Amino acid sequence: MKHLIDPTDLSKNELEEIIDLALDIIDNRQKYSEVCKGKKLATLFYEPSTRTRLSFTAAMMELGGNVLGFSDAKNSSVSKGETCADTTKVINCFADIIAMRHFEEGAATVSAMNSNIPVINAGDGSHSHPTQTLTDLLTIKREIGRFDNITIGFCGDLKFGRTVHSLIKALSMYSGVKVILIAPEQLRLPDYMKEEVCDRYGVEYREVDTMEEVMGDLDVLYMTRVQKERFFDEDEYDRVKDFFILDAEKLKLARPEMRILHPLPRVNEISTDVDADPRAAYFRQVENGKFVRMALIAKLLEWAKDPSKTTKLVPDDAVRGKFICRNKRCISNMETGVESLFRPAHDNSGGYRCVYCESKPK
Ligand code: CP
Repeated sequence: MKHLIDPTDLSKNELEEIIDLALDIIDNRQKYSEVCKGKKLATLFYEPSTRTRLSFTAAMMELGGNVLGFSDAKNSSVSKGETCADTTKVINCFADIIAMRHFEEGAATVSAMNSNIPVINAGDGSHSHPTQTLTDLLTIKREIGRFDNITIGFCGDLKFGRTVHSLIKALSMYSGVKVILIAPEQLRLPDYMKEEVCDRYGVEYREVDTMEEVMGDLDVLYMTRVQKERFFDEDEYDRVKDFFILDAEKLKLARPEMRILHPLPRVNEISTDVDADPRAAYFRQVENGKFVRMALIAKLLEWAKDPSKTTKLVPDDAVRGKFICRNKRCISNMETGVESLFRPAHDNSGGYRCVYCESKPK
């Protein structure tokens, strides 16, 4: 079965098939209005969402399908202690495809391990958000026209920002991509992203302290919110929350062709005086999210009929039951019955990484 848990579950060809289909949907909406007639999408949202859940709902409705699910896990049997694995087995009786958002990192992997229908990761903690990545790529395609040879600045919370992690992974498939990381010391990109993605795939990156010093070099400025809900210490959040604020004055340093993306929601990091600037693409980006999710749902339901289309959830060289994950938010530490699974690291260190969340063992 083909699932979408991480951007790397898609080959470059598959990724471009989805983007191309989204572009065709934009031009020929009526042609796709019955593609999912009789099919049901289950939206299982254990964490708040506006864009992702509602764009999945709108996408399935525009494809002629139906939607069921929950937007607050407290109103489901999760509140009685039901595991992610059992919930998935139950939903398999009712739906044809699942979109899951969860605060536990690796939850979508566990769901896919227990599913006979495609599972889409709609965000798992601070780990991964592959459908936001498809949204971002469609936006870059429509606004900039290419993925190769772009210079992209990621600004804000690069530690907990799952959209940043997923987009860098996807861009690592392209050549000539330059990544500039603009973050305070406390919110720098995690080591596994630098070692296993940037170094491994030759993505050129550098870390800087201010957006002003690189603004004129950028094709894309990808702003992010500092994610209050991921901090264990509120004082630490207060120290970093307003570190970077993009306003009309700073935007004067940018080229006319630069585009500003943001997965949204924003808090303070983009002043509203930027919104009317044609370079502000973040609300256009939201609409692209619906079109690309239409394309994804249609493709995954088509691929579900093709036995050659599979997602490798557990690598052949995985080690079972030997290590404990150091990440407190990993599903292997939060739910019973989740087997410890580690794979060799991809950085020649001789170490291991958790299959669910990519953290190191304790
Ligand atoms: N971009 C994004 O994931 O937004 P929501 O949290 O509103 O779904």
